[in-house]
Amino acid sequence: MRQIKFFDTTLRDGEQAPGFSMKTDEKIALALQLERLGVDIIEAGFPATSPGDFEAVERIAAVIKNASIAGLCRANKAEIQTTWNALKGAAKPRIHIVIATSDIHLETKLKKSKDEVLRMAVDAVTFAKTLCDDVEFSAEDAIRSNPDYLCQVIEAVIDAGASTVNVPDTVGYTIPAEFETLILYIRSKVPNIERANISVHCHNDLGMAVANSLAAIRAGANQVECTVNGIGERAGNAALEEIVMMLNVRKDIFNDIICKIKTEEIYRTSKLLSSITGIECQPNKAIVGKNAFSHESGIHQDGVLKNPFTYEIMTPASVGFPGNKIVLGKHSGRNAFTTRLTDLGHTLDTAAMEELFAEFKILADKKKEVHDEDLDALVYSRSNVDKVHFELEYVCFSSGNKHVPTATVVLKTPSGEVITDASTGDGPVDAAFRAIERISNVNSRLLKYKINAVTAGKDAQGEVALTVSFNETDGISARGYSTDVLVASVKAYINALNRYVARGMKSK
Ligand code: KIV
Ligand code: ZN
Repeated sequence: MRQIKFFDTTLRDGEQAPGFSMKTDEKIALALQLERLGVDIIEAGFPATSPGDFEAVERIAAVIKNASIAGLCRANKAEIQTTWNALKGAAKPRIHIVIATSDIHLETKLKKSKDEVLRMAVDAVTFAKTLCDDVEFSAEDAIRSNPDYLCQVIEAVIDAGASTVNVPDTVGYTIPAEFETLILYIRSKVPNIERANISVHCHNDLGMAVANSLAAIRAGANQVECTVNGIGERAGNAALEEIVMMLNVRKDIFNDIICKIKTEEIYRTSKLLSSITGIECQPNKAIVGKNAFSHESGIHQDGVLKNPFTYEIMTPASVGFPGNKIVLGKHSGRNAFTTRLTDLGHTLDTAAMEELFAEFKILADKKKEVHDEDLDALVYSRSNVDKVHFELEYVCFSSGNKHVPTATVVLKTPSGEVITDASTGDGPVDAAFRAIERISNVNSRLLKYKINAVTAGKDAQGEVALTVSFNETDGISARGYSTDVLVASVKAYINALNRYVARGMKSK
């Protein structure tokens, strides 16, 4: 049997896509979930790009024990050293070096000859190897590179110590047959190829990323790079959940392949990512979209009732798709609550558990049924709050089809003063935001606003994800949760405002 390693790059290639940026605490929560999912390697970021990325990689490296932690860098000593500085606390660190090998990248982007790039690649891997045992080399735009030059670079970096060589379809240009041929070509032409793992990294510009990754696996690749929900640059990367389930569902075709992914963790991982970024998958997304297991047509419903396998090639349970399990209610005690949170993978100290338990009781009074997703939301709403500068004491809305929408807000300011103000607006949310603007003396522009229901049902908690530009600075994203979506909106806005103040920004 061949074991396929899953290299997850949600926190690097995924996070680099517009709208998907994450705070360090959110990245850590996702990394812990990726570890529970069973990925072999977590690419935690690109440490040389910013102090924030460096810190995130360093902190993820400190908490993840089973998966390898990779950090990406370009082929120069300074970036490699910075990457190593971020990674060195990891149980299993991996330096991931990238340089392009296609003519178009060499001529127009790097402005270097083939020999120069070959030398840079070898020097980079040689240096990285003095720091770290596990070095991956990526030949960016491999698919549009001259195959013989590509093989020459791969052979040289393996000699220099690369233990994984990655063949990216950086621009999502290939088709399965062509990619399969390229992998077979590399296997036949590179004499030392057996000393390294062959990895592939496919983008989805023409919708072929998963198909191309699977073709490469069939041709002998033993590592796939992918992201949760297929997020990533432009049209995204190959979706982890689709590759995993294809390997599982079509064991008849992939009969020599095994992998370590725990498929029942797939849905939770997908939901966690959506909840962190505020971006849901499209409803018809394979495996994790909300319609992935629903049957609308009468003929299909009839068939599924007679035998689920008439229209279901995998069970919802196999990917952890919830049957909306009710776990807790207002009579549940502290023990049931802490046990469930721990089972869900949340590790909190006793004081934080106590505070959350009090919040859970308030929620359970409002909602008869408290689902796993509600518990997750309770935890995320805490991690979403930076140091509290402005605190909501009270909010009241008045609106209707013949009313001018009005909101009254009472806020405690950073100096401890409690200020009440009211405003009208285009709607109740706008009215509340305007009242907060007046109290805080910080102008704002709402760039993005999205409401999701955390669970099904009329009494579901609302999750509001928004991005606000304060005093014309860059947008700040935050989330807020409540069984009342208007209150959730105000909480999200105040969380964003507190983040703005925490960054040292001043009122005008
Ligand atoms: O798409 C790409 O080529 C990459 C490399 C860094 C592997 O993301
Ligand atoms: Zn990529």
